[in-house]
Order: sequence, then C-alpha cells, then structure tokens
Amino acid sequence: MNISNRVNQIKKSAIHEMTRLSKQYDDVAFLSWAKPTTGTPKHINDAVIEAIRNGKTGGYSQSEGLPELREEIVKKLKRDNHIDANTSQIIVTVGAIEGLAASVLATIDPDDEVILPTPTYSTHITQVRLASGIPVLVPLNEDNNFALDIEAIKKAITPKTKAIMFCTPSNPTGTVFSEKTLREMGKIALENHLTLIIDEAYEYFTFDTAKHFSLASIPELKKNVITNYTFTKTYAMTGWRIGYIHADEEMITQIKKAHIPLAICAPVASQYAAIAALKGSQECVEIFRSHYVKAKNLMCERLDILDSVFEYTKPEGSYLMFPKILGNQGNDSITFSKNLLTEAKVSTTPGIAFGPTGENHIRLSFCVPEEMINKAFDRMEIYFRKNK
Ligand SMILES: Cc1ncc(COP(=O)(O)O)c(C=O)c1O
Repeated sequence: MNISNRVNQIKKSAIHEMTRLSKQYDDVAFLSWAKPTTGTPKHINDAVIEAIRNGKTGGYSQSEGLPELREEIVKKLKRDNHIDANTSQIIVTVGAIEGLAASVLATIDPDDEVILPTPTYSTHITQVRLASGIPVLVPLNEDNNFALDIEAIKKAITPKTKAIMFCTPSNPTGTVFSEKTLREMGKIALENHLTLIIDEAYEYFTFDTAKHFSLASIPELKKNVITNYTFTKTYAMTGWRIGYIHADEEMITQIKKAHIPLAICAPVASQYAAIAALKGSQECVEIFRSHYVKAKNLMCERLDILDSVFEYTKPEGSYLMFPKILGNQGNDSITFSKNLLTEAKVSTTPGIAFGPTGENHIRLSFCVPEEMINKAFDRMEIYFRKNK
C-alpha cells in the first residue's frame, strides 16, 4: 500500500480509542464526550423539514454558502462578536473542522511552523501536520489557570513561523483567554506578520465573570485574523456539520480555493438549519448555558471530595475541565483512564491526547445530565477508596 508520510506520522487518536474501548462495556458513565447530549431544538428541526418538503435542499448552494445564511451570520457577528463584517467575508463550512482545515491549508506551506499553546484541541495539531506544517507546542501557564504565556510564545517565533492557532474558550482546559492577553496576541501577530487562526466553537459558554472576546473585532487586525465558528455547540447541532469562517475578503478568496476541493459547499439542509437557528429565539442557548453552569458546579463539588486524587482549576468556559492527577498515578494518563474505564466503568479522556503538557491530567466533560456526573463520581469515590 502507498501511504503518505502526511498520514503515516499521525498517531491513533486517544479520544477515539477511549470511545472504542468504552463501547465494550455496558452501563458506562461517560465524562469523555465533548458533544451536547441534548437534541437539536425543535424549531430548527421543523424548519429543515419544511425546507426539504419545499424541495430546497437537493442541490449544491454557492460554495461560500446561501446568501440568506451569510446575511444572518453578518448580523450575528455584529450583535454578539462586535465584528463589522460583510457577506463576502464569510464562508459557510462543514463544521468548524472543515473551516479550520481550509484555514490552515490556505495559510501555511510545507515546513512552516505553527505555534499552538498546549494543552489544546488535538485536531488543531493534526491539521497542521496534515498540511505538512510543523506544530510548535508552547505550554500554557497552568499555575495561572492555563493562561496564554505571552513571553514563551514570543520566544517560540522563528523566521519559519506563519501562524498561531488556538481555541477560546478552550478545549480541554475550560479557560477563557482574557481580552488583555488576546490583545497582546494581536500585537505579536502584527509585529511578526503572523496569522491568528482562532477557533471560537464555545463562544457562548462562559461562566461567572469570564467574558468571551473576539480578536476580529479589532479593525487593525483584519489582515491577521481568521476566525472559525460553529453551530455544533451553540445549538446542539453536532451531526449537522455546519460552521463558518470569518476573515478579510482577500483571505476568504484564498481560503475558498481550499474549501471547494474539500467540500464544494456545506450540506444545504444544514444551511437551512443554521438559518433557523440564527433567526429563531436564542432562549435555547441560554437554557444550555445554565445547564452547564449547574453541571460545572456539581462536578467541582464532587471533585473537591476527591482532593487527594485530583487538583483542578474551575473552568471559566466551554463545558470541559482538565484536572491534574496527583501523585505518580497520572504519569501515564492513558493507563489511568483505561483503569478507570475497566475497573470503575467511568469513561474519561487521557490528558496526553491534548499534547505532551496534557500528561498527568484527564479531561472531564460536563455537557451531560447531572445524574451522569453523580453516577461517575459515586463510582470513582469507591474506586479511589480501594486503590489508595
Ligand atoms: C475546540 C473545538 N473546535 C471544533 C470542534 C468541532 O466543531 P464542529 O463540529 O463544528 O466541526 C470541537 C468539537 O469538539 C471543539 O472542541
């Protein structure tokens, strides 16, 4: 078989491996899913059924997406992200993932370096590798709630650096990068002619005093920022595979050259779902958010009881947290997660899946019903009592 170095260098994903293993057991308590477990709101489903009945969904759309959808996206960007956009600065994509892949392909050449503050969403690292780029992993500052380490990022820049790629709010740490540090990232990008490829998948899920800030709202950065958004998390639309990119028109023209061979266009039925999501009541988003607040508080309370096993910082956003495993047990986070699965029937994600600085941690997801959190922690309490 002929297998490219591009894919050959990519290791099996620890996330998918844990999902596969979890399926071998009955009655597993899942804290490993980063996907909403609630269904897509009814008004969105109904609008798509209507669009299908009216024969609107059988063909391709414009490769950049339906004009009506892009107009709604422009309104949303203005209202919620304070970005002054127009429809030629938008491409509708097959989830944020396709948008991110097209953004990376349009930005870097083989052997270019991309700085990724880690731990980070592992797909970002894989996408840089697939584009034959070199991921440069710069640790986040765990002592400061996994904040961006501006000085370390500056030090990592070389003549080969083309981009910095990150998500805020963060998967896996739940950090919401502050406006101040994001502005510093903007300054670094301007001074070093770098592109910031930003993933704002969890933009609506912030807690307590944390506020999400979109760097694309700063007009001076318009040539330096590509932002990727998605309907997946906001409206519980994982399976619809629909997201969008915002960037400067000139950049969008180039990204479209990668988007077309990857997708032609986003699924048209899903584009109608996205129109309904944006035009309809936003109450569902607040309902999801308030559930995550309760679930986060519950998870933190239950983690407090296990304070001889885990140390953690409270997540400020997303629906994920990244506790540190105390003692030697976490040196191999894959074995730690596998033991939890086989012996306590609790599915978690090993921290190593998010880069080397993720070792000694597990990722826990609280986008699950509260009963699932209680079931998982009841089992973990018994398990850790036995395995002190
Ligand atoms: C940070 C981040 N970006 C993107 C995605 C996937 O988004 P989409 O379903 O829109 O491709 C995920 C899913 O877990 C994620 O955590």
